[in-house]
Amino acid sequence: MRFSELMREFDVEEGTFSGDDCSVRRLSDLQGYFADEAAYEAALEAGDPIVYSVSAFTPSNDEGALHCAIARIEPGRIGCEWYLTKGHFHAWRAAAEFYIGLGGEGVMVLESEHGESQMVYLKANSIIYVPGYTAHRTVNTGDVPLVYLGVYSAAAGHDYGAIAQRNFLKVVVDFDGKNTMIDREVFLETLA
Ligand SMILES: [Fe+2]
Repeated sequence: MRFSELMREFDVEEGTFSGDDCSVRRLSDLQGYFADEAAYEAALEAGDPIVYSVSAFTPSNDEGALHCAIARIEPGRIGCEWYLTKGHFHAWRAAAEFYIGLGGEGVMVLESEHGESQMVYLKANSIIYVPGYTAHRTVNTGDVPLVYLGVYSAAAGHDYGAIAQRNFLKVVVDFDGKNTMIDREVFLETLA
């Protein structure tokens, strides 16, 4: 590997690595991920904004290699639910990950394969250890972009399918100005 390939600059405001294309997820890419379907359809009728973008630094796929992603979630809500990432397990379930907050304020929803959930705060100058066997989703609970890095094994892989099928069991919503993680089913009952 050439030494010139070992370093990337990143832009904390934009949430991108220099010289890399970023993947953009718009509201229309997130069909089925927000709990309030009526609010989702209404928001989509009004436009198709960018919800988040991800840029990756993948210098090697050799055994033992690491990858790094930088992501930016825009501020916004669908109904009471904050803008979020799709979330995923790692294809290699045992692979852990560090999330490092660079700007903004948000939370991570961590959910074990057995359905145990916790909400952990992610903001600038904070770092979160995501254990293996744990689905993870990031949520922007602030009014500015949430920008963070994720550092993970090159062998981790991303399994979005399991979450796409059943979604997370909890939602993070703004109830009277307070960020609350509640059961998806309980939240859906409040909408009925
Ligand atoms: Fe991950």
